[in-house]
Amino acid sequence: MNLILFGPPGAGKGTQSQLLVERQKMKQISTGDLFRAAIKNSTSLGKEAKGYLDAGKLVPDSVTIGLVEEELGALKGTKFILDGFPRNVAQADALANILKKTGKTIDKVFFVEVPINLLLGRLAGRRVCRTCATVYHIESKPPTKENVCDACGGEVYQRADDKEEVIRTRLEAYETSTRPLKEYYKAKGPQTYVEIDGTGTSEQVFERLTRVMQGKS
Ligand code: AP5
Ligand code: MG
Repeated sequence: MNLILFGPPGAGKGTQSQLLVERQKMKQISTGDLFRAAIKNSTSLGKEAKGYLDAGKLVPDSVTIGLVEEELGALKGTKFILDGFPRNVAQADALANILKKTGKTIDKVFFVEVPINLLLGRLAGRRVCRTCATVYHIESKPPTKENVCDACGGEVYQRADDKEEVIRTRLEAYETSTRPLKEYYKAKGPQTYVEIDGTGTSEQVFERLTRVMQGKS
């Protein structure tokens, strides 16, 4: 089963993707993680994307779409999760073309819903591994050893865009560009588009997702 996970910043897309990777051997394609890795490695993609990520604005479609096309093209049979892509209608249209070209399909589009007051606390307390992008939270999921990743021993840090003023811009970008995708994907019908309550623990959210994937609700 191939999935799209979308929702506001801090909804838990990365957290749920990582659980699906671990437990269902799926491949996560997170455009945010790909940009952050490119920035860390100072590649030309990283240099192009940095200003946008730092400001909380969307990276231009011309850059983002090509990146996803490359990632999807390299996948041979592995089931995948698109985390953070598409993020606007132009990207959704481009994805439809890429899927057609590569003979791939999307089985479920999950919209993860979380009220704004919870999002702010999640983003402010989030920490991530600089090496493998494992997601932590200072209260709900701290690493065993402070600032050290349980998974790979890498440095756990606070994302530069998890500052209050940048969070505000990211939420605006979400409202303007990404939220309209709800209607876009709702039109694909209830077999494809499913809204998931993203509140409660990560395990509870995971249970809701996997029940739908198994056709149980
Ligand atoms: P991206 O990295 O995709 O950021 P985002 O969409 O803002 O989403 P987040 O990663 O902030 O949240 P998440 O839903 O993954 O939540 P998480 O699981 O970490 O994008 C960053 C930037 O890259 C963009 O601003 C843009 O510049 C660029 N970009 C990326 N994709 C692009 C695209 N397609 N087009 C153009 N530009 C693009 O969880 C958050 C916190 O909550 C964590 O601490 C976690 O531990 C905690 N948490 C999660 N679930 C729960 C739970 N159930 N209960 C309690 N805590 C929880
Ligand atoms: Mg994420």
